[in-house]
Amino acid sequence: MRRILIVGSGGREHALAKCFKKSPTVEKVFVAPGNAGMGDVATIVPIGVMDFENLINFSKYENIDLVFVGPEAPLSAGITDAMNQAGIRVFGPSAKAAQLEASKSFAKQLMNQYNIPTAKHVTVFSKVEALNYLTSHPAPIVIKADGLMAGKGVTVAMDDETAVAAVHDIYQDISYDPLVIEEFLEGEEFSLMAFVNHEKVFPLEIARDYKRAHDNDKGLNTGGMGAFSPVPFIKDEWVQDAMNNIMIPMAKAMVDQGIPFTGMLYGGCMATKDGVKTIEFNVRFGDPEAEVILARLLTPLDQVVLDVMDGKDVELTFDPRFALGVVMASRGYPQSYVKNTPIKNLDSLGVDVCHMGTDWDDGWVNKGGRVLFVMDLAETLEKVRETVYKEIARIDAPGLFYRSDIGQWKEVQV
Ligand code: AMP
Ligand code: GLY
Repeated sequence: MRRILIVGSGGREHALAKCFKKSPTVEKVFVAPGNAGMGDVATIVPIGVMDFENLINFSKYENIDLVFVGPEAPLSAGITDAMNQAGIRVFGPSAKAAQLEASKSFAKQLMNQYNIPTAKHVTVFSKVEALNYLTSHPAPIVIKADGLMAGKGVTVAMDDETAVAAVHDIYQDISYDPLVIEEFLEGEEFSLMAFVNHEKVFPLEIARDYKRAHDNDKGLNTGGMGAFSPVPFIKDEWVQDAMNNIMIPMAKAMVDQGIPFTGMLYGGCMATKDGVKTIEFNVRFGDPEAEVILARLLTPLDQVVLDVMDGKDVELTFDPRFALGVVMASRGYPQSYVKNTPIKNLDSLGVDVCHMGTDWDDGWVNKGGRVLFVMDLAETLEKVRETVYKEIARIDAPGLFYRSDIGQWKEVQV
């Protein structure tokens, strides 16, 4: 029987904990630092994600068989390298391989070198250079700050004023990091994640994420406001295209560069009229995609991860039903928001909840930007949508908001 440590504290980590917990070969699940809402399936360990020394000491003391790292920050800071050195089995890419997410310009450069389809781009190094470029490249255009921004450093500018404002905005916060400015792509977006070990790539089922804060894709980009899986209007041939032209070539490219990738590889994909293109790579499970995909994964997660790490082939089976979930976020997110507002009726719901950012203070309160992921499974998308929204309406949380159009989509001509 295995003992698992999950590193992270959001909805993705709660979903991981639930998934590991249901495996017949898992004895105990710990989450560090976790959040108060994960106590149903895991033991919460008060060690931060960047405190590698204490995470290593804890793993040794508790005889942890597998450490699974959720978020990107500890990965790009080298948690995997540190744990490997200490002789602990950890699933996630090395710091060098994690650059694929941490640096948009690194990822772009690699995609160009290996002919992996993506939007055309330039990297600029100053505000003046950025503004100059914009004068000859009108909107629609996309501006991306380099570095880890939790999906929030991207502006899809549909007019020139927005593009210029985004450049000014970014250079208020950062003074030296490069900016990526890229061509606007139009099409159907999907998230494709895979367990990767060097050249071996084992895809999970795809999910659809909703990046914008408000209904009808209005508002700022967020980490994700809702998700569902499977995604019936994404054709199998597009997923195959993404595997053949994006995921497998990138895994091979990393090997070729001498920085082989082991961990979860996330391809943000867009099916366009010129084939499937890469929007971004992440080096970890997406959040909230993990919640809906892991709810459908029937193969025991601990065995999958250990087999992948051992270089074995794995077969993944999924519940054919639709999983759908809606994020309840703190009013103001993804900008500043008020914390510690009450959340009532949470424990009497008839559907599953992943806690993204709650705390317990004589009752549930909000602590993070994204707070709850309310989700369920059903035979049809309509049915699961209806159930989830009915249950959300029962939650009494005046400090939170949510999108009311998760599970609906406008078909884009591809
Ligand atoms: P990213 O953090 O790079 O995934 O960008 C966040 C979101 O912005 C994506 O999920 C897309 O919805 C949108 N986006 C990013 N790049 C582009 C692009 N080149 N064209 C159109 N939309 C984009
Ligand atoms: N939901 C997208 C991400 O995790 O980056």
